[in-house]
Amino acid sequence: MAESSDLRFKHLHPRTSQKPEAELAPDEHSPERQSIDLEPLTPESGKSSRFSRRSFLSGLGATGLLAGAAPLVQAAPSVAPAAQEAADSAGTSTVTLRINGKEYKLSGLDTRATLLDTLRERIHLTGTKKGCDHGQCGACTVHVNGRRVNSCLSFAVMHEGDEITTIEGLGQPGNLHPMQAAFVEHDGYQCGYCTSGQIMSAVALLKEPIGPGDEDIKHAMAGNICRCGAYSNIVAAVRQVRQA
Ligand code: FES
Ligand code: FES
Repeated sequence: MAESSDLRFKHLHPRTSQKPEAELAPDEHSPERQSIDLEPLTPESGKSSRFSRRSFLSGLGATGLLAGAAPLVQAAPSVAPAAQEAADSAGTSTVTLRINGKEYKLSGLDTRATLLDTLRERIHLTGTKKGCDHGQCGACTVHVNGRRVNSCLSFAVMHEGDEITTIEGLGQPGNLHPMQAAFVEHDGYQCGYCTSGQIMSAVALLKEPIGPGDEDIKHAMAGNICRCGAYSNIVAAVRQVRQA
């Protein structure tokens, strides 16, 4: 009992066999530590241009050796810029995309860039719209090798060698694609934000094996949302072109 009581209250007893404070916490109090922390990563003055072992450790090993000493790590001169540059360039690629019959060589393209962002921000083909950016609205629909694709869900670097068509490649003012003309004729839009995606989908479905009725058109166009609710006019436009 006496022994267990001793154990329970051991922390209240004066420590008789403690080591000297400096020995217990050399990291906190050692003069050696202080000089390592603060020594700059530069050649030692008055010597040749070689780095000393100490300065080498203080620069390259600072993070591991001095964990927890954040202000000192920040103060240490950094060798990171070159390494960062290398890391950045590792995430880019040079890609040639064929869009609307024309080739675009894109250097330094972020490998994570979507086809949608690349079309709009690198090539400035802004007819393709960004609605949800999550594959749910269809505003970003383009053709890849003749098939409709949500360009917000596809990485640009995946499309080297593909034939990409955007609304700009479908028809031109004065020479509209029949589907574009039908949308105009049937007033298949209000604000127009969804329209390029609607038209790209509608053109693609002309070659898809869907049924002949309006219900089939609605089903095939279900991935294209129109916030303005121009659906009946859109169906009328698609129906006309299908029957032509
Ligand atoms: S922006 Fe691509 S599906 Fe909505
Ligand atoms: S015309 Fe406005 S969202 Fe379709």
